[in-house]
Amino acid sequence: MTLRTSPEVGGMGHSIKRKEDPRFIRGKGTYVDDVVLPGMLYLDIVRSPHAHAKIVKIDATKAMAVPGVLAVITGQDLAKYNLHWMPTLMSDTQMVLPVEKVMYQAQEVAAVLATSRYAAADGAAVVEVEYDPLPAVVDPHKALEPGAPVLRTDKKDKKDNHIWHWEWGDRAATDRAFAEADVTVKEQIYIPRIHVASIETCGCIAHFDKVDGKLTVWMTTQAPHAIRTVFALVAGHVGLAEHKIRIISPDIGGGFGGKVPVYPGYVIAVAASVLTGKPVKWIEDRMENLQADSFARDYHITAELAGKKDGTLTALRIKTLADHGYTDAAANPSKFPAGLFHVCTGSYDLKAAHVEVDGAYTNKPPGGIAYRCSFRVTEAVHTIERMVDIMAHQLGQDPAAFRMKNFIRPEQFPYKSALGWEYDSGNYGGALQKAMDGIGYAELRREQAEKRKRGELMGIGISSFTEIVGAGPSKHFDILGLKMFDSCEIRIHPTGKAIARFGTKSQGQGHETTYAQILAEELGIPAADIQVEEGDTDTAPYGLGTYASRSTPVAGAAAAVASRKIIDKGRKIAAHLLEVAPEDLVYEPGKFSVKGSPNRSKTIQDVAFAAYTNHPQGMEAGLEAVSYYDPPNLTYPFGSYICVVDIDKGTGEVKVRRFLAIDDCGNIINPMIVQGQVHGGLTMGLAPALFEEISYDEFGNVQGGSFIDYLLPTAVETPKWETGHTVTPSPHHPLGAKGVGESATVGAPAAIANAVVDALWHLGVRHVDIPITPPKVWKLLREKGVTE
Ligand code: CDP
Repeated sequence: MTLRTSPEVGGMGHSIKRKEDPRFIRGKGTYVDDVVLPGMLYLDIVRSPHAHAKIVKIDATKAMAVPGVLAVITGQDLAKYNLHWMPTLMSDTQMVLPVEKVMYQAQEVAAVLATSRYAAADGAAVVEVEYDPLPAVVDPHKALEPGAPVLRTDKKDKKDNHIWHWEWGDRAATDRAFAEADVTVKEQIYIPRIHVASIETCGCIAHFDKVDGKLTVWMTTQAPHAIRTVFALVAGHVGLAEHKIRIISPDIGGGFGGKVPVYPGYVIAVAASVLTGKPVKWIEDRMENLQADSFARDYHITAELAGKKDGTLTALRIKTLADHGYTDAAANPSKFPAGLFHVCTGSYDLKAAHVEVDGAYTNKPPGGIAYRCSFRVTEAVHTIERMVDIMAHQLGQDPAAFRMKNFIRPEQFPYKSALGWEYDSGNYGGALQKAMDGIGYAELRREQAEKRKRGELMGIGISSFTEIVGAGPSKHFDILGLKMFDSCEIRIHPTGKAIARFGTKSQGQGHETTYAQILAEELGIPAADIQVEEGDTDTAPYGLGTYASRSTPVAGAAAAVASRKIIDKGRKIAAHLLEVAPEDLVYEPGKFSVKGSPNRSKTIQDVAFAAYTNHPQGMEAGLEAVSYYDPPNLTYPFGSYICVVDIDKGTGEVKVRRFLAIDDCGNIINPMIVQGQVHGGLTMGLAPALFEEISYDEFGNVQGGSFIDYLLPTAVETPKWETGHTVTPSPHHPLGAKGVGESATVGAPAAIANAVVDALWHLGVRHVDIPITPPKVWKLLREKGVTE
């Protein structure tokens, strides 16, 4: 991409330093827990030790005797205001506090309000709850068996634990393709339950001002406007109208989708503040965060791939069981209960495909959030990339050559997939070739062959993924009815400086920098002169927030469109100043000049000043614009990752020796930030591939509920990432950009899993579920007689 602006202006393509970092690296960020208000009260939550139990009695006597404890709030208290249940993002219902029974271990049972955090915790420790345990349903397959205990007894007509059945694609054509196939492969793939484990846990401060009747909530939310509307809809009957609700999302220490849902703690804090008229703070601890907040993944997949003898892929068939815990609180666009899982044909030119997904209730925490992922695209990518690898190995073909043969070709874009998506642009072969050249693929294969002769286990894994980000076009995309547009409002001050506000909310991605760069690119105003604000519903324009890598594709586009409205008005002002017709001016970033007389020109700063001091008669003063951008399509970033692993035969440990990621997110706004996003994303892809899993024992006891059991990779376990990129602009995005925030998280696990299986295939191993832990591999090696 050619640079249109100087480094001083810092438009697109410049690796300018992040504007937000001076406050972060000096410890001067403002996170929710940094906000302290006079007279603030504190909330702590009593949680269930049982996965499924009736509540017989809650005795608050001892808790009320703890100095500083003011109240113990139960489901019965909330029921008086009809606030004991709330809607989930998927229009299911979730308990705020239970009245009859608990449905998972660590579920909220009661809340203690006190004058200090410590008093609240001491009070919570002595609330006495009498339970009558019920059988726990942990396995989603068993949950759907006839005779399984029905969990959602609150739903009058519910006779089983089945939530929904959803299918997509042409079943008949797919079945036909399978019947006609020369070769088919089938595999059971489990993508386990994991957690975003952001550095900052969730929390809020709710402050209801009884005098002006206004509720202000500082909250760890990725979608402040949507939260405001949901609060107004759910609590309108107790007097909370939308204009009297202000949500402020300050600095966020990592969201990754985990800060999209409304958690019971938020609602209890709001209720407590409305009742007391005092600010109420609730901040989760780490174990509460891991054990009770929305999980990600938990898909039990049966996938089949069909092809011809020569290695041409023809069809894909998938059946999936989605474990949603006790309520479907997945963060998905309403129309798609399995998110965008049906982008699972991936980068391949498959002529037929059919996908079925069934949701099941179990005694586990709710969720199904888009963990650094566009609503289940990670599950989709993992499935297709594993299956393609299995087919290549089955046919005895090189996995790289096999992919090259089956990729959608550049000239096929815009490409309509068998499952109905219209991919905007791509050059998959280009990315894979660059990755192969960069890592020295042919040489690595030679090395592998040598090592195999010596009995050493080395594997090379490829993941050539296609992402789908930028939800989304309002025709198909809404959350609880709210269309998924996003917004940018720009005001240029008389001295040529600017403020731009957005409906999204950064959680560490660097929006203050990159949005300013988009404005700099369009307006020619230096990025340093542009203040970017997000996250305050009283000031920012309405938007659906930041998740699923939608900020650049949607709000970034809004920034370009709003800037162009400013230029349109600026052109008229410049024409007035230069005494020419607007059409006689040419525009380059930051400057209007007269056609044929480049010396006769006005800068954007001249124009801004004139907008307030010397604007043409009949024109409104000021230089402002707003755009609510409804994208015509999603963007389809892609990449090819190659991973090299060595496996220790004695311990089963998988060592990632090299990992090269070639990403394509169209035109790049800030190369340094993109590289940072990829680095972070790769580590977040390494994590579920080798370490992370939240599992449950047969009683529904959570395993992996603290950082002792839930293993995150640290710098020690993280390999040196090698990165690079290709550039294939999006044809419909005003800047040619696509999202990038989640690409690496989505693409990396399959590359690692494929490398492990590549190392073990000759031993008869076809598949290993992630996380690929040393005990799992060691057991396999023992079974195959490789180790003792
Ligand atoms: O929605 P979210 O911000 O998480 O994801 P994104 O739109 O993929 O952007 C992540 C970060 O990378 C933002 O700071 C973007 O501005 C930046 N980015 C970029 O510099 N160039 C792109 N083509 C895409 C994203």
